[in-house]
Amino acid sequence: MAKYLADPKIGIVGIGSDAPEELLTNADLERIVDTSDQWIVERTGIRTRRIANSKTTTSMLASRAALRALEDAGVDPGDVDLIVVGTATPDMLFPSTGCLVQRDIGATRAAAFDLAAACTGFIYGLNVAAGMIRNGTHDTALVIGAETLTKITDFEDRSTCVLFGDGAGAAVLRRVENGSGIVSTRIKSDGTLGEMLMMPGGGSLHPPSHATVDARLHYIKMSGNNVFKSAVKSMADIVQTGLDDAGLTAADVDLFVPHQANARIIEATAKKLAFPTEKVFMNVDRYGNTSAASIPIAIDEARQTGRLERGDMVAAVAFGAGFTWGSVIFEY
Ligand code: ACO
Repeated sequence: MAKYLADPKIGIVGIGSDAPEELLTNADLERIVDTSDQWIVERTGIRTRRIANSKTTTSMLASRAALRALEDAGVDPGDVDLIVVGTATPDMLFPSTGCLVQRDIGATRAAAFDLAAACTGFIYGLNVAAGMIRNGTHDTALVIGAETLTKITDFEDRSTCVLFGDGAGAAVLRRVENGSGIVSTRIKSDGTLGEMLMMPGGGSLHPPSHATVDARLHYIKMSGNNVFKSAVKSMADIVQTGLDDAGLTAADVDLFVPHQANARIIEATAKKLAFPTEKVFMNVDRYGNTSAASIPIAIDEARQTGRLERGDMVAAVAFGAGFTWGSVIFEY
């Protein structure tokens, strides 16, 4: 085990998630763009997604997930002293979604902020929060991945609108007595590839205007093929680095929880790492790509369906805009 992660031991002591009730099915999408259920299932594995209505915000989903994670951990909101929200779809540019969650769950003692690492936001958040607990300035962290991606999805672009869904997941991080907790966190990025996956409008480069709306700059733009190739290689490499850190092999991992972007990306990454199908968690068929929320939603569902039990070794990995990617290996 990498020495710097051995002491103190920091682990996930609670997990929770939330997703809107409304569904967007492939049949619905067939009525919106020129696509088919067969094409979507073959290329992505996605059948349906949860979709936020006009009144539902990212912070609402995040707050519900956070309260469920706190309940699972048996921790009072007043004991939380750090909130980190990974999101690419904040309620607004400021205040941060972290501060809105703090207000809504009554975590009055917490320092709260957002972290921009797109789909890798939850993994980046775990890395940052574990580091802050390790350095002794914080004790109890809520790490949240929350998105309403369908609000920045261009429903006139068939190459992207079939991919995304909405939801949130949260984890409570604390020092742990039993088990080894987090044994490795690794994060990386390559800003030279940023143009492959971006939402160009709304910031200082293209401040909102009638022209930016007319040019559809407030929607996700993606070069799908290039994202696909980079995602598989980067995710496989960084899981291997994490396993090496911890002195583990793929055989020591009980559950592999990859970012739920696309079934083919998941299968190709698992194959490179030699994880057998039964160790690979997949729910992309029912949620689509929920970006930063996908891993905590998957971990929560794995727990609730008995695929994950205390003491299991988990390898989680994500890849997203930036490009950013990262892995976390932990004993649950
Ligand atoms: N329905 C029907 N046809 C479609 C659709 C659709 N929804 N979308 C694209 N096509 C067509 C294209 O127009 C193209 O037609 P052409 O050959 O006549 O030009 C054909 O299908 C093939 O298009 P490709 O883009 O080459 O299809 P590909 O096999 O690469 O699949 C996909 C596209 C699914 C987007 C794939 O590239 C992919 O999954 N990439 C990764 C995307 C992703 O997961 N991004 C997010 C990861 S990071 C994050 O989570 C933010």
